[in-house]
Amino acid sequence: MEKVKREGFSSSLVVFFATLSSAVGLGNIWKFPYIVGQNGGATFILIYLLCVLGVGLPVMLSEFILGRSSKKNVMGAISDVTPRKFFKSVGIFGIIVAFAISCFYTAVAGWVYSYIGKAILGKFRGVDTVQAKEIFDTTTVGPLQPVLWQVVVLIVSSIILIKGVRSGIERVARIGMPILLGLLIACAVRGLFLEGGKDAIGYLFIPSFKDISLVSVVMTALGLAFFKLSLGMGTMMTYASYFPDDNNLLGNAVKVIIGDTIVSLLAGMAIFPSVFTFGGEPGSGPGLLFETIPLIFSKLPGGNVLIIIFFILAGLAATMATISMLEVPIAYLSEERKISRKGAVICTSIVVAVVGLLATLSANPQGLLGQKFIFKMTFFNFFDYISSNILMPIGGLLLAILVGYFMKKERIRHELVEKSGNSVGMMNLYYFILRYITPVLLIIVFLSALNII
Ligand code: PHE
Repeated sequence: MEKVKREGFSSSLVVFFATLSSAVGLGNIWKFPYIVGQNGGATFILIYLLCVLGVGLPVMLSEFILGRSSKKNVMGAISDVTPRKFFKSVGIFGIIVAFAISCFYTAVAGWVYSYIGKAILGKFRGVDTVQAKEIFDTTTVGPLQPVLWQVVVLIVSSIILIKGVRSGIERVARIGMPILLGLLIACAVRGLFLEGGKDAIGYLFIPSFKDISLVSVVMTALGLAFFKLSLGMGTMMTYASYFPDDNNLLGNAVKVIIGDTIVSLLAGMAIFPSVFTFGGEPGSGPGLLFETIPLIFSKLPGGNVLIIIFFILAGLAATMATISMLEVPIAYLSEERKISRKGAVICTSIVVAVVGLLATLSANPQGLLGQKFIFKMTFFNFFDYISSNILMPIGGLLLAILVGYFMKKERIRHELVEKSGNSVGMMNLYYFILRYITPVLLIIVFLSALNII
């Protein structure tokens, strides 16, 4: 078969920044704090970490192995392992999930962009609860404002993506990640010096085992793990197809998971202390970022600057995660369908902009589609819910089965032992977990969610 020359990341440090830049995003800064808030703090974090270890890590490593060993997009990587039609559909499935997530993700990213502008214009100075809610509503009700900002997000992401893997994705991750981390640490340190800092630490780190419904909490934690680590739909696989051959796959997976967890906790430390200091509600839901943060930060000395910094860092994170999910269909279209990269980027962005209207216009109950329901959910919640809680875990299960049962062990060995320098013992441990633990855990969660066990 003819080998197409492909671009790739230039070093292992870049690999780390790029994979981390996909993992870190609105999942850490928007979802994690409010989901932790709604599910009881540290106990939830503990369950989340168990899901990451038992399921997230093995699935991430499997995606890395699939991507790097084939050096192809999702479809190509999967067909390299088995010609079976069924698994081909897993590739298509990944591409569809990438679209589904992008539709609501770019809407939220658009709100973040618009909040940067609003913060710079000083619109949050001295706001009270009612005004904070009003600003959130005008940002999200639409139709014009949220749609325009979503298009801006797509244009920025497309410009980066058109530049390609090296001058686009790599360059942005290399510059963006250190800035993001610096800004986040500054916000977290600021938070910890507040009166509510201690309460926030207790809330995030000391588990209390009271009235939680285990099944629903585990489902939520699992979904969050897939979403936050960009798993089960081909993003990590596609990025891994750009890894250099000497990158230590297991080492990188562990580093990304630790880095992503630290970023989530830092986001919690940036947000919860002020929530506790000024009597906000940690479980206030998706509005936590957009209503509570401006309201509460604006009460701090220098608060407006803090709001600007906070939304810039959220915007950076959201943009880098967006490009990583769009790269899945783009790599597929340009490699399998032989469309030019530029054409693939434009097609993908247009589809997301158009289908994304469903999510954007239904995000606010007063929006144009705010009262239209599908399976009792708005389109916005539907895209969000089915992708993280159902589609990504199903994708993870299928990928675990693909690598655990259909890929030749020799090939796994070659990736992990020969190329990555991991020990044979480590490889066997991973292989065992992937074959017997990860799928069983996932199936148990699915069955109990369906009330079958
Ligand atoms: N991991 C990203 C976040 O936490 C979201 C994402 C999901 C990115 C799937 C790529 C693919 O925000």
